[in-house]
Amino acid sequence: MDPHVTEWLNLAVRWVHMITGIAWIGASFYFVWLENNLDRRSPKEGLSGDLWAIHGGGIYHLEKYKLAPPQMPETLHWFKWEAYFTWISGVTLLAVVYYLNAELYLIAPGSGLSPATAIAIGVGSLIAGWFIYDFLCDSALGKKPLLLGVLLFVLIIFAAWAFTLVFSGRGAFIHVGALIGTIMVGNVFRTIMPAQRGLVSAIEENRQPDPALPAKALLRSRHNNYFTLPVLFIMISNHFPSTYGSEFNWAILAAIAALSILVRHYFNTRHDGQKFAWALPAAAVGMIALAFVSAPKSAEVSQGAAAGKAAVPVFAEVSDVISKRCTVCHSESPSSEMFKTAPGGVMFDSPEQIKILAPQIFAQSVASNAMPLGNITGMTPEERNMLRDWIQQGAELH
Ligand code: HEC
Repeated sequence: MDPHVTEWLNLAVRWVHMITGIAWIGASFYFVWLENNLDRRSPKEGLSGDLWAIHGGGIYHLEKYKLAPPQMPETLHWFKWEAYFTWISGVTLLAVVYYLNAELYLIAPGSGLSPATAIAIGVGSLIAGWFIYDFLCDSALGKKPLLLGVLLFVLIIFAAWAFTLVFSGRGAFIHVGALIGTIMVGNVFRTIMPAQRGLVSAIEENRQPDPALPAKALLRSRHNNYFTLPVLFIMISNHFPSTYGSEFNWAILAAIAALSILVRHYFNTRHDGQKFAWALPAAAVGMIALAFVSAPKSAEVSQGAAAGKAAVPVFAEVSDVISKRCTVCHSESPSSEMFKTAPGGVMFDSPEQIKILAPQIFAQSVASNAMPLGNITGMTPEERNMLRDWIQQGAELH
């Protein structure tokens, strides 16, 4: 497909995905907050609590019914299209970015996987993931939420690790995000909405609502609540090569997910005292620790110098490697069929540009193997080491 067309398709779909995602997660955070902050001290007959709020220059009074009002209102607002459109736009974006250019973005360099196989693995795992999740929730484990939660966490991290065997770092991360996102939307579509419909029709028909469905829906909606922060991290992780580009990317993902679940837990329980107040500083310390452990290994970094063979690479060699491996894409006028303009605005046409961008080159091509994308231009480890030595010894232009 014409790169200009894919770029605008990417833009349009990504924009929609972001807007609907904000609407979905925003509404979901809001209702969790509402539930947690209801004044339950002396509710009116039939209510479980109420709440006063001011926003946008108006004062609001919200009331929550224990079960339902004596009579259903004429208009009842539902929240579901945000979720459905987030998923639809997300899957479309996955296809536009990762499946349309699978060799570049999706496949692990050197794995020898064909695009069709890689895409089949990706799509297949989303479908399988939902069915496994759904099965586990409906099994006896559904009655042991903590155990189920731990098991789900382990399984998802196992999936992350398995993805790294066949996908690039970013391909693996995005598939974990897509897997969790699919589970979340599946929960809305298959469990939460049917439970709500059941409740409404029972009330309309003056029946006692079946308590089984709401109980299931509650478990699923708890999961969705704890999934949100890890998913949001995955959606921005592409900007951070030291996470997805690391050899232990799946473990970094596990750690960030665990820390963010802790943070979510604090916000979920805050109304109920500050029992988990330690979670915020603990998560902050955890993130700082992760920054340390994910740093390029100092042994590896100074290896060349210590061995005494770190003859400073001359710039001509560096320039040669960059023009062989990078400038097909990163140039004023890229020769690559896949890009019409330099990706990310990064260009390596002049020595000065290369020097200024040395830290970025280090992050993308030395500390991680994020660039060249899909190692499409076949950069060798020796070339990466050479760039490392050059950058560490001052990135001089001679
Ligand atoms: C096949 C095309 C391609 C090749 C070859 C390539 N890149 Fe990139 N590069 C991209 C794309 C696309 C992006 C855009 C951002 C993204 O998707 O992360 C990018 C982004 C970057 C960025 C900016 C990252 C950021 O988020 O700030 C740097 C730095 C970079 N590349 C360095 C390199 C280096 C160094 C090489 C050669 C060793 C290289 N690239 C080879 C396609 C390429």
